[in-house]
Parts: sequence; C-alpha cells; structure tokens
Amino acid sequence: MKKVDLKVKPRLILHLNNLDENCKKIAGNANGKTIRLATKSIRSIPVLRRILASSPVFQGLMCYCSQEALFLHKQGFNDILIGYPSLDKEAIINIARANKNGAKIIYMVDHIQQLEALQSIAKEHDGLIYTCLDIDMSVKIAGFHFGVRRSPLKHVEEVLTLAAYVKKQSHLRMLGVMGYEAQIAGVPDQLPQKIGVNKVVQLLKKRSLSIVKKRRYDIVQALTAAGYSLELVNGGGTGSLQTTAKEDVITEITVGSGFYAPILFDYFQERIETNASLFFTLPIVRKPAENIYTCLGGGYIASGSAGNSKLPQPVYPKGSKLIPVEGAGEVQTPVYIRSRHIKIGDIIVFRAAKAGEICERFTEIVCVSNGKIVDYYPTYRGEGECFF
Ligand SMILES: Cc1ncc(COP(=O)(O)O)c(C=O)c1O
Repeated sequence: MKKVDLKVKPRLILHLNNLDENCKKIAGNANGKTIRLATKSIRSIPVLRRILASSPVFQGLMCYCSQEALFLHKQGFNDILIGYPSLDKEAIINIARANKNGAKIIYMVDHIQQLEALQSIAKEHDGLIYTCLDIDMSVKIAGFHFGVRRSPLKHVEEVLTLAAYVKKQSHLRMLGVMGYEAQIAGVPDQLPQKIGVNKVVQLLKKRSLSIVKKRRYDIVQALTAAGYSLELVNGGGTGSLQTTAKEDVITEITVGSGFYAPILFDYFQERIETNASLFFTLPIVRKPAENIYTCLGGGYIASGSAGNSKLPQPVYPKGSKLIPVEGAGEVQTPVYIRSRHIKIGDIIVFRAAKAGEICERFTEIVCVSNGKIVDYYPTYRGEGECFF
C-alpha cells in the first residue's frame, strides 16, 4: 500500500474505529425503522458501502441531484431517492429508462410544473419516473418562521391534489412522501456561550415537534384513506433521529452527518453519543510570532447562514485556537498554540463544522484504524465527479 506523508499538504482523515462505532449507535437508535443514507453528508462511495454493509437497518440512499443518482446507480446502488427537485433533461431521460428496466430512482416533487416536465420527458422516451412528494415541515410560531423554505405543500388538500395529478399521468408513479423537519434535525440548541438563543431554539423545537408529528400523521392518513399505498414515509435527519423514529407513520429516517459527526452536531440537546470520525490535517509551514503557527490551507467553511459556527476548528494539539481576525484562510491558516514543542513541519488536526462538504476539497480520504493508516478511500472528487 502507498504511504502518504501527512506533512506534505492538507489531508482528509477518516477514523474508521469511530465511524464503525457511530454506525452501531445510529442503527441502534432506529426504533424498527430503516435508515436511508444522506449522500451529501458522506460523498465517498467506499464509505457509503461500508455503512450499508454494517447493518441491515441501513437501506437505500438519499442523494442530492439526478446526475449523482445516475452515478450511484452505475456504481451498483439501487433504491435511490433524489432528495431535492432536479430537472436536468438528459438525466431524466436516463433515469426514466433505467426505471423501466428495473431500477428504483425516485424524484422529489412538490409542484405541478416539475411533474409536467417529468411526465412529458418520460412519455417522449417511453420511460418511468417514480416520485415522492416533499411536504413542508416548517412552522410558524408567534409570527416567526421556523424551518426551511423548500416545499409549498403543507396542507392535506394540497397534498391530495398533487397526488391525484401524479396518478393521472401515464408515465409517473407516486411511491411515498417525505417531510424533513430541518428546524429540529439541523439546528443546534446547545451552542457554547449562546444561553439565550439556545433557550429560544429549544422552546421552538419543542413546540414544532407536536406540529410536525400531527402534520405527517394527517397527511399519511388522508393519502391512505384516499387509496394511495405509500411505500415510503421519510422524515428526519441526524439531529432528530430519536424523535422522528418514534412516529408510527414514519417508515424510514434519513441520516448522513451522524456518521462523520462534525462539530455542529456536538451542540444538540437530544443527541446520539457519536464521536467525530472525520478530520483534516494541515502542515505547519510558518511561525510568524511566539505561539502562532501558520498552516497551509484550511479555509473549508461550511454552507448555510454565515457565522463563526461554520468555521472548522483545530482539535489537536489540545488548546489550539483559530485567530478571530483571520479565521480559516483560503491558503493559510494561523493557529494559536501555547506550547514550545511545536515546530514547522508538524501537523495540526482539525474538524469541519459540517459533514460531507469538505470531501469536495480532497480527492482521497486517508483511513486510519487503531492508530495506523490502513486504506485510502476516494471521495466523489477522487472518482472524477463534481455534481455541484
Ligand atoms: C431532505 C433531507 N433529509 C435529511 C437530511 C439530514 O441529513 P443529515 O443527517 O446529514 O443532517 C437533510 C439535510 O439537509 C435533508 O435535506
């Protein structure tokens, strides 16, 4: 096996022992449901395979666009739910044909215009498109919108209308519904030094929980009563696994971030005790002042509303800190370390704020087990793929 030198350039490191342990903990919290893997939070084929092989609880993938679905299908995966509307015509043609030949690649839809496009392309090419209706799980509490702006489908009647439209289309089939409660699953509520904000978020989450549960229940009941059989009712994410898994109408939960356990998921009240498994290392290349060590690379800032919580953080040597005025830089990252034993050529270990995005900055993941490098897994980039 080749040997990489961690001191040469930034490297992405996967702690396999922690990853395997996280798989066990996540599977152990599924409460009889299956867990679909959120590929956006993993972005590496061998990692996806490793997680799927670790337990029968892990079934199927939720990917983030139609080109990615085709790539995954070519790699031998089936049961692929495209978690977000994605209307690339060429991909639709190929997916419609693949489905006709036995594949199960499912489009996420929430609007008649998406359905019109899918039906017209599938019909023209005599293919088959499976669909899943995305239900808006955001809530309004005291005039405050809590949740994400994605789907316009919130009320039972709107869902029934769209389901009826799908039913009338010759080349479309509806397999199920998804309702992702982002405001519970993706919003930390135990951030350090944010006691006030945390209290408000905790309260909003608590209120939101019962609304989400009732909305999902009402919609599933109404669809069932109207004669639709739902193969899948998907909900949740890493930050809501324990609450989503308790709902009777849910058949599966999507989880991605929990496997790498990035910083953002340290700060949830209701959290599974996973351990960080994905890290990156930067070599120290300069020493501009006493206790300041400047590394090569490091500016891997997570997406979402901007702020300090999206910065990566140094975790080793212990006590290392970013310098607030510089943060993590595009090609240079200074780190404050109160130690006399660090020198140019040493490495600093970091964690990213979120899970899968960082894989876009690396072609391979250095896999470590029991303190030794045991393998190298390609990221999507390493496979020559960049979906967006
Ligand atoms: C539709 C959907 N489901 C589930 C998830 C949960 O993913 P993760 O477990 O990586 O937070 C997300 C994340 O954004 C999502 O968009």
